[in-house]
Amino acid sequence: MIYLSAALAFVLFSSCKNDAKSEVSETAQTEEYQGKEIGSEHDAEIDKLVSQMTLEEKIGMLHGNSMFSTGAVERLGIPELKMADGPLGVREEISRDSWAPAGVTNDFATYYPAGGGLAATWNAEMAHTFGNSLGEELRARDKDMLLSPAINMVRTPLGGRTYEYMSEDPFLNKKIAVPLIVGLQEKDVMACVKHYAANNQETNRDFVDVQIDERTLREIYLPAFEAAVKEAKSYAIMGAYNKFRGEYLCENDYMLNKILRDEWGFKGIVVSDWAAVHSTVKSLKSGLDIEMGTPKPFNEFFLADKLIAAVKAGEIAESEIDLHVKRILRVLFQVKAMGGGERAKGSISTEAHYQDAYKIAAEDIVLLKNDNNALPLKLDGVKSIAVIGNNAMKKNSLGGFGAGVKTKREVTPLEGLKNRLPSSIKINYAEGYVERYDEKNKGKLGDITLNGPVTIDELDPAKVQEAVEAAKKSDVAVIFAGSNRDYETEASDRRDLHLPFGQEELIKKVLAVNPRTIVVFVAGAPFDIGEITQKSPAVVWSWFNGSEGGNALADVILGKVNPSGKLPWTMPKNIMDSPAHATKSFPGGKSVNYAEGLLIGYRWFDTKNIAPLFPFGYGLSYTTFALENGKTDKTSYNSNEIISVFIDVKNTGKVDGKEVVQVYSSKTDSKVARASKELKGFKKVLVKSGGSENVTIQIPVKELAYYDVSAKKWTVEPGKYTLKIGNSSRDIKKEIAITIQ
Ligand code: BGC
Repeated sequence: MIYLSAALAFVLFSSCKNDAKSEVSETAQTEEYQGKEIGSEHDAEIDKLVSQMTLEEKIGMLHGNSMFSTGAVERLGIPELKMADGPLGVREEISRDSWAPAGVTNDFATYYPAGGGLAATWNAEMAHTFGNSLGEELRARDKDMLLSPAINMVRTPLGGRTYEYMSEDPFLNKKIAVPLIVGLQEKDVMACVKHYAANNQETNRDFVDVQIDERTLREIYLPAFEAAVKEAKSYAIMGAYNKFRGEYLCENDYMLNKILRDEWGFKGIVVSDWAAVHSTVKSLKSGLDIEMGTPKPFNEFFLADKLIAAVKAGEIAESEIDLHVKRILRVLFQVKAMGGGERAKGSISTEAHYQDAYKIAAEDIVLLKNDNNALPLKLDGVKSIAVIGNNAMKKNSLGGFGAGVKTKREVTPLEGLKNRLPSSIKINYAEGYVERYDEKNKGKLGDITLNGPVTIDELDPAKVQEAVEAAKKSDVAVIFAGSNRDYETEASDRRDLHLPFGQEELIKKVLAVNPRTIVVFVAGAPFDIGEITQKSPAVVWSWFNGSEGGNALADVILGKVNPSGKLPWTMPKNIMDSPAHATKSFPGGKSVNYAEGLLIGYRWFDTKNIAPLFPFGYGLSYTTFALENGKTDKTSYNSNEIISVFIDVKNTGKVDGKEVVQVYSSKTDSKVARASKELKGFKKVLVKSGGSENVTIQIPVKELAYYDVSAKKWTVEPGKYTLKIGNSSRDIKKEIAITIQ
């Protein structure tokens, strides 16, 4: 990784500090994460290898030869390229020729917080730690490629994979994705960034033809992929299932050849999503390198026997095959799977990795409401706590359709509280609500939310009674509600925002008997929590939060950790307020047209003046902050300069805490349509109680550019801009006017 050293950055960019410096503020000042370019030093060796290979051996490297690896050429010392899912940690070992677990015992891994959680830290260092830690686990499992990160955009709150993706904002998305990829690849493994691109819904994902206008594509849906390629130097990218402008993404010349390779200079390999390939010669010519898939004889894949036949029939030249084989060999050398060289050592399920997962989890929990300092829980005089909800015990490392993690440690919220509370306090647990799926549909591509003979929302009166009794007889009640990874799942989108399993009714009943009730949501995507929020004194939002999720949550509830997570997406009041729904452009049918254009997420809410339940970037703390003396280094810039924004973050409360300063830009007199606000910079800073930190946020002027479709390039429009500094998209404390020459 190349970055300005913390010390140098500190000297260069930090101005007056009037308090003990915090670790976070010093090291996070100007770190720019840059990946390592794929080298060409082995090219002669690679040419020689390819010249010795038969056509069959070459083509064996271009398709799955097991569920998660390509073919080896043992006689020449070329190994299989071994892959593993996925975003939550290294997936359990899958059988070579079916989706069934391999049933081995050495595949236990650390379960890391899901993408939404990681993004909610708003902390690039956490993403880098995440990548490093996972990279070591991948090496311990002897894999070469992690099918991660998943960085599609949260276009609709209902998206089945919202929990796995990061954000509705392209800037936050790339600022988390890049350090993650860099961290991962530092461990001599490849990231495989997915799913390229416009795979923002599960409904009809296998064929839906996505229509996005060019400017929106460039400004919203591609920036994180572009940064993954240009900055993080991701060694691999995964072609998505869906179509884009009429062509499947794994045979999309515009996306794979023109944009990815010609424009962005991608040197790595394009791997298909599993069974996302639909043609032989066309896929290869359009830029796909490896076809992966679901069980069928591997020689029947499009890039297997059919490709051998196509070469023999003269439909494609063998020299074209060589090109792809060379790309694959280059990345194998790059991660030292070939060519000797000491490869990074691995370790898995270690205490150190669990602690990495803890650190991230502790920074991603979002405090949504805290009337009269109901939290952290004050235990004086508390003899008993009611812990209510199926989610208090629910584990999410596995579940639903798609990649999970087989782990030896998943601390549930209930276990977390037991670990952290003094034994003198009695815990009265009641499940309260039960998961009710239509058993017939369970496991059917995630479509388990259909109503069965008993509706999904029906409460069990005995369980409700038990919960109410527990709340009545306890001094305090904590309800763990939300969803889980069976309900939020790959391969199907949710139907609506309602909290399933009758939770809303249950929570109201508990609140009625014990006003000292804290509600904690464990979920990966927005839900309709408006009424519950109104009625509860304190509301906390947690995620599918990894091996140590329960401990982190208990530490937040009890005040050992001061929450500092911020929502990476907007929590709407109604689904119809959300842009894709308001414009009636979700989910579409055979095709879907992103009618809201640039106005995804808060860009829509803020431009149209629609009040969300909680805005993008929002999250409370146990302390209070004042943002003061906001200024820029100059008032006028040219397009190659960097704007330095300075602001004092004062901790005006009684405990130390971390705040995320966010800088949005706006250009009201623009000649092109723009959102009223666009995130352009942010920084998380630890400030001691009573202290103040001077934060510097650097914004390259080029971040203010829009994509000029007719000129086919990014253009910084000259004129006046307003920088809006605040701690959510809706809480702006300071506006600064600047001019771009
Ligand atoms: C998912 C990918 C995943 C692949 C292999 C697909 O269904 O879309 O994200 O990496 O399966 O498990």
